[in-house]
Amino acid sequence: MKNFLLHSNPPAPVPISPDVPIPTASPAAEKPTSTAKLATRIDALTKEYVLKSETVRALRGVSFDVPQGDYVAIMGPSGSGKSTLLNMLGCLDQPTSGSLMLGKDNISLMTDDQLADIRSRRIGFVFQSYNLIQQLTVVENIQVPLYYQGLLGPKEYARAVDLAERVGLADRLDHRPNQLSGGQQQRVAIARSLVNDPYFILADEPTGNLDSVTTDEILALFDQLNGEGRTIILVTHEDDVAERARRIIRLKDGMLHSDEPVSDEQRQSARELQAAAALAVKNKQGLS
Ligand SMILES: Nc1ncnc2c1ncn2[C@@H]1O[C@H](COP(=O)(O)OP(=O)(O)O)[C@@H](O)[C@H]1O
Ligand SMILES: [Mg+2]
Repeated sequence: MKNFLLHSNPPAPVPISPDVPIPTASPAAEKPTSTAKLATRIDALTKEYVLKSETVRALRGVSFDVPQGDYVAIMGPSGSGKSTLLNMLGCLDQPTSGSLMLGKDNISLMTDDQLADIRSRRIGFVFQSYNLIQQLTVVENIQVPLYYQGLLGPKEYARAVDLAERVGLADRLDHRPNQLSGGQQQRVAIARSLVNDPYFILADEPTGNLDSVTTDEILALFDQLNGEGRTIILVTHEDDVAERARRIIRLKDGMLHSDEPVSDEQRQSARELQAAAALAVKNKQGLS
């Protein structure tokens, strides 16, 4: 492959946001059963931050399973522990007690090196601010997680092109981030999150910077990926974004407040509401 990646020093590491979002879903998630394969299992998870004057109990015993193919929205007021939970799901931090399984790996037993390794190989992050590398093209940005593993052959290049096409960027392969709209940049980030075949996509407010037209497009892309069996875990403040998921987990004061499925009717009506909002904006733009 002839490109920037081969002929230069490694790019700066992709910045990891302190807030890590997670999305995932698949047909299997419609009726989760105890025999379904799990993307992750969280059991009695606690996290305490020890400060000089006090100990903050950010998570106080949170347990839930995410079957492969699920699509989970995590909600909760500010300070309820969402970021803390996402940091652990993203292998950025370890719990104080309890366990977090990713497939067969218990991350609470891992060394820092093992955590970094699993993070780069098996977790797909999507951030509110995209976090793309400006000097790299679309295809190169998608390959970055592979680059860190020393994987840079024609197979990897073809995989990145394939993912770019799947997220609707077939005609933008050699563009750089500043030549793309916000929605297109988020598509690159989503393709990048998939390049490692992750346990799940962790999305942190993935539509937080997007207008309603683009939000609708990105959520449609998540629907499509979930329909293909991808597990998605995302954090959002917006009810209508959360209602596109298959399940909503609410945290409160570091505890699991509720964990409810979203009915097909609710999901459909959230889709229709967003489509209508997007259409209204498009019509307005057309008139102006
Ligand atoms: N690194 C840290 N050191 C100390 N306290 C923290 C740290 N990170 C988060 N907290 C505290 O833990 C609690 C949960 O925070 P967080 O997970 O960021 O909540 P949310 O993302 O839902 O707003 C809050 O009381 C917050 O102040
Ligand atoms: Mg937060």
